[in-house]
Amino acid sequence: MARAQNIALADDSLSVDLMSSPEAPVQDTAACVRSLTGQELEKLKNDRNLVSEFKQAKLEKEAQKNWDLFYKRNTVNFFKDRHWTTREFEELRACKESQGQKLVLLEAGCGVGNCIFPLLEEDLDVFVYACDFSHRAVEFVKQNPLYCAERCKVFQCDLTKDELQESISAESVDVAMLIFVLSAIHPDKMPLALKNIFKVLRPGGTVLFRDYGLYDHTMLRFKPGSKLGENFYVRQDGTRSFFFSKELLADLFTGAGFLTLANEYVFRETVNKKEGLCVPRVFVQSKFRKPDR
Ligand SMILES: C[S@@+](CC[C@H](N)C(=O)[O-])C[C@H]1O[C@@H](n2cnc3c(N)ncnc32)[C@H](O)[C@@H]1O
Repeated sequence: MARAQNIALADDSLSVDLMSSPEAPVQDTAACVRSLTGQELEKLKNDRNLVSEFKQAKLEKEAQKNWDLFYKRNTVNFFKDRHWTTREFEELRACKESQGQKLVLLEAGCGVGNCIFPLLEEDLDVFVYACDFSHRAVEFVKQNPLYCAERCKVFQCDLTKDELQESISAESVDVAMLIFVLSAIHPDKMPLALKNIFKVLRPGGTVLFRDYGLYDHTMLRFKPGSKLGENFYVRQDGTRSFFFSKELLADLFTGAGFLTLANEYVFRETVNKKEGLCVPRVFVQSKFRKPDR
């Protein structure tokens, strides 16, 4: 069982591994959703039975515990450092370009810091707020040798429930990052997380977003009995994953008051050498802006 769990998630990590290498393979961006084979369409169409309401309520209640157990099992060794963020998002390089300006960042759902530490390592002139659901993940961030109170502040919070304003001044953040986090939140609660972020972002501030896209390989790999709702699945370890169409994502952000700056699918291929497989990955990469006052 434990092995199956790891394999199910290792796919995500592998793609991230490739993304993080300096010579990361070329990725295609596209306005349209990935087209499926007849067999793939059939598989999705036949997967109609949803997990029972009782079990769904339990998963929601235990969401934090399940992420905490995930970090207990995997410690800091699951996700690879995401060195690609400054390449993909020019907003993160802004501080270098306009001298003397300290950029205030927030990584919402930071895990063990695979996004923030590469930024701190690059010595960007930034102050980073970071938060996560899991107490364990937050502790791992604090234990990282690059963590220091002058450059970052990490805290535990449920983005759908706890006001970020308790730890961050209103409208003080220049750039917020949501990297493979919104997909882990129940779709009904996604608007709450976005509104929470909206309040701490300064007018004109940006949200940088990357997450699982519709028909990603991992979506098609879920076994019957894993479906929670439309494009929403549970992994064997109880963590959940939503797969975004760019239309739904744009609706979510505009519904929370944001303007859409960029929103597209990213198509990649992940090579799993061990299994001799090359699999199609789909992500959504987007930017949203809080309107000026
Ligand atoms: C796939 S990990 C991504 C971590 C990190 N952003 C990265 O790129 O490595 C998803 C993270 O979202 C966090 N998360 C899930 N639901 C959350 C919530 N309601 N509030 C805050 N964090 C949450 C989990 O604890 C987990 O660390």
